[in-house]
Amino acid sequence: MVNTSVTLCGLQLDNPIIPASGTFGYGAEFAELYDINILGTFSFKGTTKEPRFGNPTPRIAECREGMLNSVGLQNPGVDEVCDTILPRMKKYFNKPVMANIGGFSIDEYVYCCEKASQAENVGLVELNISCPNVHGGGMSFGTSPESAARVTEAVRRICKKPLFVKLSPNVTDIAAIARACEDAGADGVSLINTLMGMRIDIRRRTPVLANKKGGFSGAAVFPVALRMVYDVYEAVKIPVIGMGGVTTVDDVIEMMMAGARAVEIGSANLTDPFVCKKIIEALPGRMEELGITSLADIVGAAH
Ligand code: FUM
Repeated sequence: MVNTSVTLCGLQLDNPIIPASGTFGYGAEFAELYDINILGTFSFKGTTKEPRFGNPTPRIAECREGMLNSVGLQNPGVDEVCDTILPRMKKYFNKPVMANIGGFSIDEYVYCCEKASQAENVGLVELNISCPNVHGGGMSFGTSPESAARVTEAVRRICKKPLFVKLSPNVTDIAAIARACEDAGADGVSLINTLMGMRIDIRRRTPVLANKKGGFSGAAVFPVALRMVYDVYEAVKIPVIGMGGVTTVDDVIEMMMAGARAVEIGSANLTDPFVCKKIIEALPGRMEELGITSLADIVGAAH
């Protein structure tokens, strides 16, 4: 019997599989397709203080081996999430969820993280300082060690649950930013968010996305994400959650050997809504084939 469980800051997950924010909503639609209680947990859609309609359309563009999005943090606002959606979520998800929080100012991050982290069914907070699709917030906090540290420190003071900071790959040295977050009190880091990219419609001679640029994700980014997880694992002592282009059970194992204690799966949910279920079901057999008795033992094994 193999052991798929992993522990994140004292929170035990049955397995390391976590649908990534922005690809799983608040879970309700997926709960109609399968019992989502088989997941380790999931990270809900990046939530801000005010409700947001998001960016103008088109805001998705297909690419070879991936996709671009410029959703712009569409969400119903933290009050609606905490007062209505989280209580309702208990009916279809009986595990602690990960609250992904976006923002445009430190005060906003503080407000949302304080409120969300008080919810009974929030087990972890993921501070999203890496959304590339909004102006004056999101990624602008995550591209320098100083600003990443400032927001992390402010949120850490009020956050009632373990705080993971979600990092941007659109930087020169992601390890330096991870270290700054650790020094500022982060309990963990998650990486990578999307890589900035664009597409052009050659008939119209205009960018495909209304917002011109967006975040690139999907299988094509996997080697980049893996390298960054590998580097960050060496730079910090806090747990690392790996994500970026993960689509198969072997990708999960590779991410963990690079240093990830848990693995988020994003774009793959959009092409196959059952991908997380399939990976969870495939894990024990693949572990046996590879001679892995406990997944926790392989974290960082490639170092
Ligand atoms: O545009 C978006 O809502 C994306 C958010 C993110 O990448 O964090």
